[in-house]
Amino acid sequence: MNTPTTADAGSAQLKVAVIYYSSTGTVAALAKEIGETAEKAGAEVRLRRAPELAPQSAIDSNPAWAENQRATADIPEASPEDVEWADAVLFGTPTRFGNVSSQLKQVLDQLGGLWAEGKLADKVYSGFTSSASLHGGQETTLLALYTTIHHFGGLIAAPGYTDPSKFTDGNPYGTSHTDAQGANPVDETARTAARVQAERVVRIARGVKAGLAA
Ligand SMILES: Cc1cc2nc3c(=O)[nH]c(=O)nc-3n(C[C@H](O)[C@H](O)[C@H](O)COP(=O)(O)O)c2cc1C
Repeated sequence: MNTPTTADAGSAQLKVAVIYYSSTGTVAALAKEIGETAEKAGAEVRLRRAPELAPQSAIDSNPAWAENQRATADIPEASPEDVEWADAVLFGTPTRFGNVSSQLKQVLDQLGGLWAEGKLADKVYSGFTSSASLHGGQETTLLALYTTIHHFGGLIAAPGYTDPSKFTDGNPYGTSHTDAQGANPVDETARTAARVQAERVVRIARGVKAGLAA
């Protein structure tokens, strides 16, 4: 990712940032699916991970966490400039007691300067998440994330039930997956939801960008 395709290289190409936090790889897998889909839809994509805040000893005590840290080490860390750059931003976070993870929140909390300059407004935003248990806080996590987007003056492109597949995955607020503490890896239902969401964000953001430029 990061490289414009020759078909639509140039300043008019839609810029999409996929900014996520993931401890044990579930949200990382969704982020990758979303980024690849946005790229296939013609967007220039930046896949970025939130900087880790947990101590290395905590990471090393959980094999899945340590493995995900190793597997995603080459993904650049998110910075406010990635949000400024983008026409559309998809934020991903595992649920933490029904809320946004502190690592992604730290990324959001570093956007005060851009907010004060009005540079977060008029962009398209969407969110995705995962939890260990069914009804474990996926919807509240996405709504908590979306509270912040309102303060940006952002335009939330929620999936709603705009595709028949949404009646299978069942979450109109954004892509979500129930991982049962790692026992259920990201499956085709979640991947389909991720693709539907990414395609929708690209389509809506293209319309917003063209409309604002007119
Ligand atoms: C501190 C903490 C709080 C969590 N809170 C919840 C929760 O409220 N509900 C839930 O279902 N899972 C909860 N989980 C589990 C993770 O959200 C879940 O396993 C998620 O899918 C992990 O995503 P990841 O693999 O991208 O890190 C929590 C995990 C941690 C470490």
